[in-house]
Amino acid sequence: MLPEIITPEITAPKIEPLFTAEAIHERVKELADEITADYQNEEPVLVGVLKGSFIFLADLARETNLHALQIDFMGVESYKKGTKSSRQPIITKDLSIDISDHHVLLVEDIVDTGYSLQTLMKILSVRSAKSIKTCALLSKPDRREVEVPIDFLGFTIPDEFVVGYGLDFNQKYRELPYIGILPKELQGQT
Ligand code: IMP
Ligand code: MG
Repeated sequence: MLPEIITPEITAPKIEPLFTAEAIHERVKELADEITADYQNEEPVLVGVLKGSFIFLADLARETNLHALQIDFMGVESYKKGTKSSRQPIITKDLSIDISDHHVLLVEDIVDTGYSLQTLMKILSVRSAKSIKTCALLSKPDRREVEVPIDFLGFTIPDEFVVGYGLDFNQKYRELPYIGILPKELQGQT
């Protein structure tokens, strides 16, 4: 007789959707239409800000109707651990393509204090791009400490820590297909 295999009971954390997968996809399509209209006859470079924007960028790029899109990534980390911003974002990956004479669209998951986007824009502003615009899926205006322009915005949200659809808490929950507010009882866990 085979020994009984005991599988530990895995209980999924209760993260209620703030935006369902369907609501996100509807909004992403609308944003993609706005972007397509804005860059008619141009060949923009979409720059995804790692890691949080990887799912958003993938969906957004497929919904646009632009020709000769280029895609690249920048890495920036502002959260050492948990839900507080360090206010000193660190660049962990630079572009691998030359953006001079190109229109650049920075694609962020969420703008919180604004320091990450401000840092990225400062770095890119000296590289002779034709233009630099920003697109963010989410914005928490109540938390803003530095003003940053958001040209294309998905949703404005209250001052809550959210996860899913690429956004993490201590590198977890990025895979959730929806966006939900991280329950307080999970915020202490690392
Ligand atoms: P900022 O520099 O404070 O604007 O922070 C921007 C970055 O912090 C975002 O690109 C996210 O990676 C992360 N972040 C801010 N708020 C949240 C949140 O509610 N959930 C997950 N990540 C967040
Ligand atoms: Mg980010």
